[in-house]
Amino acid sequence: MRAHPAGPLHADVLRSGRGLPPGRDLNALHPRVWPRSAVRVGGALTVGGVDVRDVAATHGTPAFVLDSEDFRSRCHDFRSAFGAGADVYYAAKAFLCTQVARWVDEEGLGLDVCTGGELALALRAGFPAERIAFHGNNKSTTELAGAVAAGIGRVVLDSDSEIVRLAAASAAGGARTKVLIRATVGVEAHTHEYIATAHEDQKFGFSMASGAVAEAVSHVLALPSLELVGLHSHIGSQIFDTSGFEVSAHRVVELLAAVHDDHGIELPEIGLGGGLGIAYLAEDDPLDPKHVAESLRGIVERECAAAGLAVPRLSVEPGRAIAGPGTVTLYEVGTMKEVAGLRTYVSVDGGMSDNVRTALYDAEYTCILASRSSDAPPMLARVVGLHCESGDVVVRDAWLPADVMAGDLLAVAATGAYCRAMASNYNEVPRPPVVAVAAGRTRELLRRETAEDLLRLDCG
Ligand code: LLP
Repeated sequence: MRAHPAGPLHADVLRSGRGLPPGRDLNALHPRVWPRSAVRVGGALTVGGVDVRDVAATHGTPAFVLDSEDFRSRCHDFRSAFGAGADVYYAAKAFLCTQVARWVDEEGLGLDVCTGGELALALRAGFPAERIAFHGNNKSTTELAGAVAAGIGRVVLDSDSEIVRLAAASAAGGARTKVLIRATVGVEAHTHEYIATAHEDQKFGFSMASGAVAEAVSHVLALPSLELVGLHSHIGSQIFDTSGFEVSAHRVVELLAAVHDDHGIELPEIGLGGGLGIAYLAEDDPLDPKHVAESLRGIVERECAAAGLAVPRLSVEPGRAIAGPGTVTLYEVGTMKEVAGLRTYVSVDGGMSDNVRTALYDAEYTCILASRSSDAPPMLARVVGLHCESGDVVVRDAWLPADVMAGDLLAVAATGAYCRAMASNYNEVPRPPVVAVAAGRTRELLRRETAEDLLRLDCG
């Protein structure tokens, strides 16, 4: 994610052609940005062998169109990259519904949940509790007791108060809960401030620099209802280079060595979190899971050899890199407004209620005319939503054919992570459905909300 430079942007974007597809071909589908099955057939975008015009006709717009083979193949890519000697947990916060939980289970991954709600959904889907890791900086006592009762696989401890409360819940449940301690290792991840998580000045984890990790280790080791299995670090999200992960791995192994020195034990696991970036624009160049796996394994092995420690079992928690690239959001174009000499505003039938990332993080997206191809020249557009707010922008700078008109369908790429998951009912707008597509067939995973759904909680 890039910081959004101040001042009038359109001139820069116009001059540089930033965001224009290679060869200025507005009909092209860059393979890094679009779902693995995406192609144009007869001009229209098809995903999973389904023409998006058919999705719109059957399920309406806006709609999330999820290429289920894409999702599953990315689970598989991570599993095979990390191999049997490591665990891959899918970070449910990126997008979760019961079918997704089942796919993740079938692909042999674990599940990272960070609230009682995510945990309840996963359990309802039949996800094996022993392959679930429970994260979060403010888990409630009720959530912790629920996790213990379910037989949770791991709890990643984030605070002193949680250690005390989990130990009590675990003892009350007659359990010995496996825990990791989340360390804040002081890495400045090169990403948006809101999604960087390992620098000192933020809410997550125990500080390495202040000695809080070492104190938490002693605290946990003294509690018989908790079994300390490892240390954990998550440095942030939408990261494009391995250096931050490498520093983090280096520091976590340093901590393992300190635990060994202080307590004479070797912890068997380390978790290095999620955070791998994906391509939102053609120029984004994400890391390959194989490359990440090799480099993390290499550094952990080297550091452990240097410290005279056995190599612990590694775990990672990709969310965006699994769920993100395989989903597109389909919108219908409504009104258009040209601001002379500046840009054309293209309004669609969704907006910040189905994708708040542009407003919140200045996220950038690729958008195409999806219902037909066009040879019209590129026009610099701003794709905006229907909400009563001028910050309601879906794609800040979108190159669209100049003949885009009301009734056309637009597709925004790579919206599978943190879009439906962060969707809201702002302005009483029903949340869109998630429609899985594969082998020419569609299947609703989540249906569209209705006015009745919006009234469901209204006690008046
Ligand atoms: N593990 C932990 C402990 C996390 O906190 C997160 C994300 C992940 C794994 C998964 O990270 P991923 O692989 O998806 O980057 N709403 C923001 C992203 C927030 C990420 C929060 N934690 C966005 O839309 O960019």
